Amino acid sequence: MNFLKSLKTLFSLDLAVDMGTTRTKIYEKTQEMVLNEPSFVAVSYREGEVQAVGREAYKMYGRCPPHVEVHQPLEHGVIENFDLAEEMLKRFLDQVFNRKALLGARIAMVVPSGATDVEKKAFEDIAVQVGGREVMLVEAPIAAAIGMNLPIGDGKGTVAFYLGGGTTQAAVFIGGDLMLTHCNPVGGEDLTEAIINGVRKNHQILIGSHTAEQLKISMGSAYPSDRDESREIYGKSVVDGLPRAVFVANWEIREMMEAPLNQIVNTMKSVLEKVPPDLSEDIKKSGLFLSGGNAQVEGFSRLVEHITGLKCVKSKKGQMSCIRGAAKIIMNSRKYRDFTTSSHSRQFNA
Ligand SMILES: Nc1ncnc2c1ncn2[C@@H]1O[C@H](COP(=O)(O)OP(=O)(O)OP(=O)(O)O)[C@@H](O)[C@H]1O
Ligand SMILES: [Mg+2]
Repeated sequence: MNFLKSLKTLFSLDLAVDMGTTRTKIYEKTQEMVLNEPSFVAVSYREGEVQAVGREAYKMYGRCPPHVEVHQPLEHGVIENFDLAEEMLKRFLDQVFNRKALLGARIAMVVPSGATDVEKKAFEDIAVQVGGREVMLVEAPIAAAIGMNLPIGDGKGTVAFYLGGGTTQAAVFIGGDLMLTHCNPVGGEDLTEAIINGVRKNHQILIGSHTAEQLKISMGSAYPSDRDESREIYGKSVVDGLPRAVFVANWEIREMMEAPLNQIVNTMKSVLEKVPPDLSEDIKKSGLFLSGGNAQVEGFSRLVEHITGLKCVKSKKGQMSCIRGAAKIIMNSRKYRDFTTSSHSRQFNA
């Protein structure tokens, strides 16, 4: 029996899973990054089953037949629809692994800081449902700091911000220990939403979230720039419901995003207010470390630098920082033990 158990441990998979509001990423030791897909699920109510997940489901968002509905099982970082979140993760894993190979896996699962025990347990239960024998939970900004290779183990103070699609999160470290974490449910999706509302107000047309996200990524900026740019976009007139085209300028997009951007920067400031004065020198010298997809908004670092007077160091592959950190954790679980929780570590009995 013990021999069987150790064989299973030897051949079991080590996985890192980051189910985010907008994207899900999966890492496996031998194949490295194996999946990075939108966290979307299309359900056909005619067939009564999930029709598509990930990229395919995202493509259908806003353009599917009436019997199909596209859902995001996570909202502001937490699981809103457990069954759909579980089904989504199972299908993602089926795309890259033989399900049987997953039985007995060790899984490092990213959870948002500030999630309640019930919310954390939902992540853990899903990890167990997909075959996890041992599940480690790690808060997103901690995973991001580890993924960015920040010097959290040295004696200095380090402030890491993770800016995601549905959340703005922070972790402050001192002397190798975690001092505090913080999470506010505002993120990149709020910027996209603000663009949809702004275009409706300024141009009286309704645009879909694909168009709004494209505008944000290609033309959006958090800080004024000299670049003058405008683009023709298509939407539906709020006056007569007919398709219409309008030109939208980059300065308009920036103005539309201003309110949620202020909320995000204010969240960051409120974290800095909680940091003890003894860390001021370290923070002033090393700056603020930024990662997450939302930190990629053009001019975001400049905006934060302008408001806080502190330099920002942005991770180049910011959207991958959490999953990279979770991957390091699963491969060095002893080293990072103090940064994870595994309240319900289960032994695999078969
Ligand atoms: N180049 C870019 N410019 C602007 N926004 C971007 C860019 N790249 C990605 N984003 C935004 O980043 C967000 C996704 O980031 P990320 O994958 O870190 O979030 P998530 O894990 O899904 O969310 P969360 O962790 O908050 O639940 C989306 O809102 C996306 O629009
Ligand atoms: Mg995330």
